Amino acid sequence: MDSIRVFAPATVANVACGFDIFGFAVDAPGDEVILRKKNTPGLQITKIAGDGGRLPLDANKNAVTVVMLKFLEQIGSDQGFEIELTKNMPLGSGMGSSAASAVAGVFAINELMGKPLAQRDLLRFAMEGERIACGAAHADNVGPSLLGGFVVVRSYSPLDVFKINTPASLFATLVHPDIEVNTKDARYILRNEVSLKNAITQMGNVAGLIAGLLQSDFDLISRSLVDVIIEPVRSILIPEFDTVKHAALDNGALGCSISGAGPSMFALSRDMDTAHRVGAAMRTAFAGAGVSSHLYVSGINQEGPRILS
Ligand code: HSE
Repeated sequence: MDSIRVFAPATVANVACGFDIFGFAVDAPGDEVILRKKNTPGLQITKIAGDGGRLPLDANKNAVTVVMLKFLEQIGSDQGFEIELTKNMPLGSGMGSSAASAVAGVFAINELMGKPLAQRDLLRFAMEGERIACGAAHADNVGPSLLGGFVVVRSYSPLDVFKINTPASLFATLVHPDIEVNTKDARYILRNEVSLKNAITQMGNVAGLIAGLLQSDFDLISRSLVDVIIEPVRSILIPEFDTVKHAALDNGALGCSISGAGPSMFALSRDMDTAHRVGAAMRTAFAGAGVSSHLYVSGINQEGPRILS
């Protein structure tokens, strides 16, 4: 095989109470990477579509190729590649765009090189893409984009990541308002200290969300989708955040919060119809503030990256 086209899914990181430790994959949107082996060493980005010309074509600066270079170094190969990248979601959307691209790239190169590494071992490479993209090698987007499903990062040092089962009927609503939030900025505004009271509340919700997901206890999931640490700070970056959130809850969502670093917002619902109704209400709320938006509804994507051709 000399060429491959791979899709990797967008992700909802944090999932309310799990800042930097929870994330799940959705069916759409997602980014695509085409790799072609070439006869000379080196990585050459031949095309990037959908980024408005903002991402670097320099292989030493683009997150996708930096990840691929680290992979090649690890396996001791100087195989060269041409790379085409298609971004199907805007930069700074809170849907894990940089993670999806990095995952697509490292999954694709592992396939073309004959799978020298297990899929799970690609995670630490993809995390390096996040370091390039936003200054922090967090795994709550790359984890679910690479492994599929709902992923927990129990520890960063040493890295300890696992998947948990979710109810089959659980559906996610993802609404992206047409504004941009830079992840680096959205991390910078966070406080470094957390009060003991808030830490206790957050730990209770983290435990409750995991138990609720594993036991398909929708009421427990609903009570646990609460973030008392990050959301109160970051929500000021999203126009009409409270109105949109209330629109989701009033229409039957189990919970609603910021997707990743924002500005996208997500909701979880106990079935697909509710998830669509919630999405329509959230869009209407954004429109009321003069903000246009895009809506995605999907189950929890269990697959992660997939080969398109
Ligand atoms: N956990 C990260 C954050 C995700 O919230 O900054 C970034 O998409």
